[in-house]
Amino acid sequence: VQLASASAGDHGLNAVGCSLRCRFLNLTIGVHLSVAKAWCIASRPKDCPQLADFIAIEIPRRDLREGEVRVLNHWMSVDPYMRGRMNAGDSYITPFELDKPMDGFAVGEVIESRATDFQPGDQVLHMLGWRTEAVAPANQYVKLPSSTIPIQAYLGIMGMPGATAYFGLFEVAQAKAGECIFVSAAAGGVGSTVLQLAKNKGLTVVASVGGPEKVRIVRDLGADFVIDYKSSPSIESALRDAVPSGVDIYFDNVGHSHLDAALGCAKDFARFAICGMIQSYNSTQPTILSNAIKIIEKRIAIKGFVITDFVCKLDAFRTDMAALIQQGRIRSLETIRSGFESGPSAFLELFSGGNVGKMLVRLVD
Ligand SMILES: NC(=O)c1ccc[n+]([C@@H]2O[C@H](COP(=O)([O-])OP(=O)(O)OC[C@H]3O[C@@H](n4cnc5c(N)ncnc54)[C@H](OP(=O)(O)O)[C@@H]3O)[C@@H](O)[C@H]2O)c1
Repeated sequence: VQLASASAGDHGLNAVGCSLRCRFLNLTIGVHLSVAKAWCIASRPKDCPQLADFIAIEIPRRDLREGEVRVLNHWMSVDPYMRGRMNAGDSYITPFELDKPMDGFAVGEVIESRATDFQPGDQVLHMLGWRTEAVAPANQYVKLPSSTIPIQAYLGIMGMPGATAYFGLFEVAQAKAGECIFVSAAAGGVGSTVLQLAKNKGLTVVASVGGPEKVRIVRDLGADFVIDYKSSPSIESALRDAVPSGVDIYFDNVGHSHLDAALGCAKDFARFAICGMIQSYNSTQPTILSNAIKIIEKRIAIKGFVITDFVCKLDAFRTDMAALIQQGRIRSLETIRSGFESGPSAFLELFSGGNVGKMLVRLVD
């Protein structure tokens, strides 16, 4: 990991820098240093990314323009989809540019505003993550409601991963009570939410995870059957042993060997919600599905989806999910890494299973 400096103009980022702040008589007092910090990618990895692929830059502060808001980021999200953004070329989301600040979801607190709708102290969600501070026009921020739900949940169970689980399960897979679902990466941000939503709905859940600690965690969340894929000689045999009559739904977070196993154990007319294929993100090997013929034999419906397909329904999701959390029917699992410097390593941990639930980076104590 290297540290470099850059001008605000070069990077389209205009930020304040590390901020020493305190609350006194309900006032937020800012003592701002002269620069902010942001992570960039320095190189495009061919397979597994390394810390050396990332570079931290310092960005000098500038005054706000009319209509702009300055936010001190408290939490930033690292997500598997960002691995795809490290590659060049077309995808459903634009690649990161070399030596330019990366972005992604973050939540924080308004510390300065030249927009009428935002006041210092407002808590907001936005896409200018991977940096200590964000400066942007007001329309790039979403104000968060004040509630008992902590703001970092809007990066996890109340945010993109939670919505992915919710819409993937209910809209894409059309899950119904009494059915049997197989979910991979079941202890992760999306997977642990799918598992809990499915149990709440009355499905039988087979969860696949890597390692004994995660086995214990998903059992505790209510999984009926658990496969530790790292110690199982065959995922397909383990799945068949768990549910000999097969699965109605496969919620795929991993792809390749898990997808192949699910094809081998699908019931007639099974539905597969293809959410992610993390096993392939760092791989240069082709994905081979030895059970592909089952798609015809079992008349399996396979549907890929991207969460942005459901943005117009996010309000309904947030209402439902907030109620489930407040009723104690669903738990938010989080793994927290502390400090701006831990951003790249937290991201890399996603590919070695270092997280339980949503992987988060806390930027402000
Ligand atoms: N379609 C969409 O709109 C959308 C939105 C969000 C996320 N996603 C996808 O959903 C999946 C889960 O995302 P998330 O944010 O919730 O991440 P996550 O599950 O919290 O973290 C990734 C997990 O994947 C597992 N994993 C990593 N490498 C693996 C490998 N080679 N083989 C098997 N498992 C592996 C690890 O768990 P173990 O320790 O159990 O191996 C790791 O903890 C990802 O594929 C992501 O790309 C898609």
